Amino acid sequence: MNKFVIGIFDSGIGGLTILKEIKKYLPEYDYIYLGDNARAPYGNHSFEIVYEFTRQAIRWLFEQNCSLIIIACNTASAKALRTIQQNDLPHLGSEKKVLGVIRPTTEIIGDFSTTKHIGILGTLGTIQSRSYIVEIEKFFPDLKIFQQASPMLVPLIENNEFNNLACDYFIEKYLQALLNQSDKIDTILLACTHYPIIYQQIKKFLPKNIQLIQQGEIVAKSLQKYLERHNEIEIQLQKNNHMSFYTTDDPSKFSELATNFYGQKVIANKIKF
Ligand code: DGL
Repeated sequence: MNKFVIGIFDSGIGGLTILKEIKKYLPEYDYIYLGDNARAPYGNHSFEIVYEFTRQAIRWLFEQNCSLIIIACNTASAKALRTIQQNDLPHLGSEKKVLGVIRPTTEIIGDFSTTKHIGILGTLGTIQSRSYIVEIEKFFPDLKIFQQASPMLVPLIENNEFNNLACDYFIEKYLQALLNQSDKIDTILLACTHYPIIYQQIKKFLPKNIQLIQQGEIVAKSLQKYLERHNEIEIQLQKNNHMSFYTTDDPSKFSELATNFYGQKVIANKIKF
């Protein structure tokens, strides 16, 4: 019997940018989305806190019959994924899988750049973890990576305060700080799932020769390949084209933001760990 669903976890609404693309490529499956909005942003928290929050979310998603979870949050992927895979999964059952967003991105990011100079925008946690630098080095040792933390962007997006001059101010400031590090950067990766929500706003401040990369499609294609490789997981997944949304904060606020962003009506339910 097909009994398992795919879980998508993010600190807030940012993971919807990943889910939206996954749904395009893999529409037939059932998904549960969980946003820990009550405790977002994760970006400035310590490793211990991000690990603990992420672990609670993962456990909850497994209890809802997820067999495969995508941590659609760079901060949690950078700070918690490895520990969860090493410390927690062995006790949760060998059929349970947790994947992140950093590995699929770093595997192909070098293909986008001609100058081999890439800029990365992310939360303070993602940037300070140096996860992108370490992972990219494995696949593209000749790439030069420049990073810039952009700590104000997630709080502005989570509070629905992004379509305004205040957000523009921070975007311009962070981009300038990034581009000042090298005039050869031709590719900027949005290494935070919230940032595609302000993709057009960011693009406005970029010279035409610099391309802006979002992760949604990259992660979706990588998941598609993963399911092709792992038939034992794929055949057990429910395929009713069904989605459910959960948040740890006010569900009406989540529904409003998510409906706006997602382009179709979203009704979220509230959960407590
Ligand atoms: N969407 C999360 C990420 O990709 C945001 C992190 C946060 O909550 O600060 O990093």
